[in-house]
Amino acid sequence: MKKIVVLTGAGMSAQSGISTFRDSGGLWENHPVRQVASVEGWYSDPKLMLSFYNQRRTDLKKAKPNKGHLILAGLEQFFDIGIVTQNVDDLHERAGSTRILHLHGELTKARSSENPDLITEIGYEPVHWGDKAADGTQLRPHIVWFGEPVPEMSKAIQWTREAEIMIVVGTSLAVYPAAGLIDYASGNTPLFLIDPKPAPVRRNHLHTITEKAVEGLEKLEKILIDNYL
Ligand code: APR
Repeated sequence: MKKIVVLTGAGMSAQSGISTFRDSGGLWENHPVRQVASVEGWYSDPKLMLSFYNQRRTDLKKAKPNKGHLILAGLEQFFDIGIVTQNVDDLHERAGSTRILHLHGELTKARSSENPDLITEIGYEPVHWGDKAADGTQLRPHIVWFGEPVPEMSKAIQWTREAEIMIVVGTSLAVYPAAGLIDYASGNTPLFLIDPKPAPVRRNHLHTITEKAVEGLEKLEKILIDNYL
């Protein structure tokens, strides 16, 4: 089976009703990033941060995987496919994908505010100030905030280096190191970029599909099965 690596961003979940960050009306328009997604924000107003992620967890509980998520899960029958997502939602999991790396963490998990490896599943439940992890420290969202390391990046780079095909769906490629992943795909690896307003990417073998995730993946699924099995 050919190896495929898929990098997904917020646009992947837009058609499931989940806001993107930088589109008009996106999350960062209503919430200054530094206040709700950075280490400084956690130290200056942790209760605001907890409520921001509690709201996103409540929204996620109501959301469902879209047909794009389901297509990526279905491609596992034909390809050795690994999904590297910047998204903190669980829609790839709920669609049935089995090999997923979350570069920026997961909404359905929380962790000790001292020990990043002390992680607990919380599903869609809220985390409140005063909720403690097993080590007695304040429980915090298991999210990679601006200013924090991206532990899964080295594995994501390995998957990308090994990939014979790379797919990029629904990301502005504005945030590093995630955005730099495309540079690890070998020069001969075809890169399919799906986005209604694709970010500028310069490389050989680039195939841009200027569509939303669902429509773009419907097209790409046919291309992959007709030409790359
Ligand atoms: N289908 C596909 N792509 C879409 C759709 C859609 N229906 N709607 C919007 N898009 C595209 C936009 O054109 C844009 O390129 O999705 C992208 C969304 O970009 P961002 O909002 O910047 O989201 P993302 O690239 O995932 O942000 C990366 O930034 O704030 C951090 O941690 C956060 O993981 C996030 C990271």
